[in-house]
Amino acid sequence: MSPFPAALLALPGNERMADALATALALPRVAASVHRFPDGESLVRVDGNVQGRDVILVCTLNQPDDKFVPLFLMAHAAREAGARRVLLVAPYLPYMRQDVRFRAGETVSARHVAAWISSQVDGLITVDPHLHRIHDLAEIYAIPHRVVHAAPALAAWIRAQVARPVLIGPDEESAQWVAEVAQAAQAPHVVLTKTRLGDRKVRIDVPALAPWQGHTPVLVDDIVSTAHTMMEVVQALRQRATPAPVCVAVHAVFARTAYEDLQAAGAGVIVSTDTIAHDSNRIALSAPLAQAIRELL
Ligand code: R5P
Repeated sequence: MSPFPAALLALPGNERMADALATALALPRVAASVHRFPDGESLVRVDGNVQGRDVILVCTLNQPDDKFVPLFLMAHAAREAGARRVLLVAPYLPYMRQDVRFRAGETVSARHVAAWISSQVDGLITVDPHLHRIHDLAEIYAIPHRVVHAAPALAAWIRAQVARPVLIGPDEESAQWVAEVAQAAQAPHVVLTKTRLGDRKVRIDVPALAPWQGHTPVLVDDIVSTAHTMMEVVQALRQRATPAPVCVAVHAVFARTAYEDLQAAGAGVIVSTDTIAHDSNRIALSAPLAQAIRELL
């Protein structure tokens, strides 16, 4: 760790994670506030003493468009209050799926968002960013960063909670890390093929799981947003009278009614890590996040 004192600062909604990190790192959490004016603008204020400190902003970035402005203003406020460096812990890193210009006239949002964040903070810590056509955060982030992998924690949960699991990755993108989770959980795995037809429409070829009869299907995905990816697989499996599939997500985005929709589709237990606060959170990542912060400090 750096010889300079550090402190955590939670953007609204991130207090629980910031407190867990403060405990793990034996660091203080300084008070701060964000006031929303009636016109939707934000007023941020650092209330604690950050003079000469490395300030670690904790702000997960689901629903990111609402969060960028207060986050970036808070980074300025911390520097103006005397912070030496400003680091960002964003357990969920957004905009990573727009990693290519899918149609003429679009832009590669992942690159621009990375440039914005890189221009505002001195370092970034996140959990399993969605890396597909961009293979490494270093391709788009110009600042020091650490990536926490949720695989060991997912595997530990599955080993402890699911009898005879067979892990299922819904698409080719999930192949690498589903294999890693499966290996650590000492379970077999299969990877499916997905075609995305729209925001809420996917087609997934679900083969017969005959070799794994008597196993409990465990769907593992990095992001669950509309949950249509998981629902498609859950419905196909339920038609084959498998046990209710366990659904495991790293990032519980769960847009609008996605969580209820997934339950109604026939999912069994639905669990997630705590990168985004949600009722399904069962897998805490504050310990590996604290370790990543130590390394970056
Ligand atoms: C994309 O490839 C991701 O890995 C997820 O499969 C995707 O984000 C899930 O989205 P949704 O829940 O909207 O189907």
